[in-house]
Amino acid sequence: MRILNASGCLDALAAPEVARELDAFVTKTVTPLPREGNAPPRIAETAHGMLNAIGLANPGRERFLAEHLPRVRELGVPVWVSVGGFCADDYAETCSRLTGIEAIELNLSCPNVDEAADSAAEIVAACRRATELPLYAKLSAAHPDVTDVARAVAHAGADGLSLINTLRAVALDKHLRPALARGSGGLSGPALKPVALHAVSVCHEAAALPIVGMGGVQTGRDALEFAACGAADVALGTVLFADPGAPARVRTELAAACAEAGVATPGDAGPLTKSPETGRKVPA
Ligand SMILES: Cc1cc2nc3c(=O)[nH]c(=O)nc-3n(C[C@H](O)[C@H](O)[C@H](O)COP(=O)(O)O)c2cc1C
Repeated sequence: MRILNASGCLDALAAPEVARELDAFVTKTVTPLPREGNAPPRIAETAHGMLNAIGLANPGRERFLAEHLPRVRELGVPVWVSVGGFCADDYAETCSRLTGIEAIELNLSCPNVDEAADSAAEIVAACRRATELPLYAKLSAAHPDVTDVARAVAHAGADGLSLINTLRAVALDKHLRPALARGSGGLSGPALKPVALHAVSVCHEAAALPIVGMGGVQTGRDALEFAACGAADVALGTVLFADPGAPARVRTELAAACAEAGVATPGDAGPLTKSPETGRKVPA
């Protein structure tokens, strides 16, 4: 099981020693044009997780390719580039320009991008024509049935799935006004884990693609639970803000969690076996 960072949760150039602890570094989502992101405040704490409305702030494709990516590649860690956009051509154009990286993660939860199965498949198909690099489709669990989207992107040529992105949420300040300037934002952290485990489990069955599981992974035991639900790899997001040492710690804890669960490796933990009583894997 590889340990990656979740897109947008680690600046590899500001914290190269953290990036070097990862099996692969995933960049923040890059869009065709530069984006300043939303007005502050754009981060808020909640009792069980973090709310963010960063708004995909990034330097834009040209500066990313000319300045940022070459420096990230110098770190010597395999690089995944997270690609975003507002239409299929935006995504495909960026994909066609990427070389010397390990994989591309398509952030299919961008503002103005319809996450319906058809449009997700159209984006993946356009990117498939534009690159031979492995394509991971990053999905949100907010879709009425995430397995529809998983099947559609698998059919369109995705090589893997990244599950899950944040869930839309609101936090209020002491005056009962939204804590974020934008009003709502994306919830991440521990509250997401049960939702993410379900998405991983049902998509593993539906699409039979390798999955990078994420959403509230804080410990080695969490990572093992993702493996038990069918994830091949995990990504650490919100935990990195509080504990930059999490990649090394989670790796050590994962070995101990395997021993405690009586499995030799995380791969032996999953996917979930059917319950002998009900014949079901995970409740629908
Ligand atoms: C501050 C912040 C910025 C994020 N930026 C991105 C992004 O640029 N692209 C993306 O696909 N996901 C982004 N995410 C979502 C994470 O990659 C991840 O899917 C989500 O936070 C769930 O994992 P976690 O609970 O471990 O944080 C961001 C999350 C946070 C908290």
